[in-house]
Amino acid sequence: MKDFIYLDNGATSFPKPEEVYTYMDQYYRRLGVNPGRSGYDICMEAGEVVEDTRKTLTNFFNGTDPDRLCFSYNATDALNLIIFGILQEGDHAISTTIEHNSILRPLYHQKKYGGVEVDYIPFDSKGFVNPDDFPKKFKTNTKLVIVNHASNVIGTIQPIKEIGKYCQDHGILFAIDVSQSAGKIPIDMEEQNIDIIAFTGHKSLLGPTGIGGLYVREGIEIKHTRAGGTGVRSAVKTHLDEYPYRLEYGTLNTLGVAGLSAGLQWVLEQGLDNLHEHEMKLMSKLRDDLQDVEGVTLYVQDDLKDHISIFLFNVDGMEAMNTGTILDVDYNIACRTGLHCAPLVHDQIGTSEIHGAVRFGIGPFNTEEHIQTAVQAIKDIAEMQKKIRNPRNG
Ligand code: ALA
Repeated sequence: MKDFIYLDNGATSFPKPEEVYTYMDQYYRRLGVNPGRSGYDICMEAGEVVEDTRKTLTNFFNGTDPDRLCFSYNATDALNLIIFGILQEGDHAISTTIEHNSILRPLYHQKKYGGVEVDYIPFDSKGFVNPDDFPKKFKTNTKLVIVNHASNVIGTIQPIKEIGKYCQDHGILFAIDVSQSAGKIPIDMEEQNIDIIAFTGHKSLLGPTGIGGLYVREGIEIKHTRAGGTGVRSAVKTHLDEYPYRLEYGTLNTLGVAGLSAGLQWVLEQGLDNLHEHEMKLMSKLRDDLQDVEGVTLYVQDDLKDHISIFLFNVDGMEAMNTGTILDVDYNIACRTGLHCAPLVHDQIGTSEIHGAVRFGIGPFNTEEHIQTAVQAIKDIAEMQKKIRNPRNG
């Protein structure tokens, strides 16, 4: 059996740093109680882990108030809180065709059931939206612009600072989804004119699944769309208005918070630049080694500037799913195939009709050897496919 090679880091990072496993185990054995509910020692100590993680994440995004860092279950959960908590009947929202279903579907629901109008800005042939296209769509009822920072399909990083500036100048809220970018590239609320950030813990922040959150700039009040226990002021009949309680409901995933704190700590110790440089070096190798191979099509990889380490391709004439199966069964390489929950991206790059493409997501623990093996595997599959199509050439 060949060594297992994990290239599905776009779906979730794996493995996690050893420190994450160790810390989660220790935390849960020693402090696995429900913080914020009582005053005994380990309850207070568990609460400190949660509050320290709020602070670290707030600093990481260059926010100003850790109470405005609210934990949720994942980015989809956070994006639902944003999209349903901000938009009301008669409002207009703007998004893009680069989005994941975590934004597309709540917006479709808001359109279908909530009387909200939505426009989508398409990306160009290099995979970027043009910031100048946004103000052209602004209307008097435009309330929210919501954009995926880095694509989970083609890896392009969107010009959020420029989009944010237009939103700021027009008094429109600007939210971004940093599911793929947080832990890979810097994110700065102030510098990049961002009002609200939705994040997940289990991708490049290297925490476990089931933990995510949002940061809401001071002065912005997202309406409650849920209600429940907060652990404090239990006699108040409706859900609390103050942050972070305003957007947190019921017992937190404290084990997830602990794992996320250890993952983030590891990322900070390595340094974002170092991690990104390592992954992009591997990306360049993949691109350079495969771009001229007959029978292999790469999508939106010509220029790797403003990219994260997401690599999309197809072996010509093969369903992506079949390529993925061969990579798995014959080469022990894990990847993701299909539409990657982002159907509009595939519509635009022309891969919807062929049921999508194959995606490699490179992570901090991938090596040149992994990439070398993956390149050879793709070349072999392309060669095999060529023989099937032209048996006489074999
Ligand atoms: N959003 C994750 C992906 O792109 C699950 O695979």
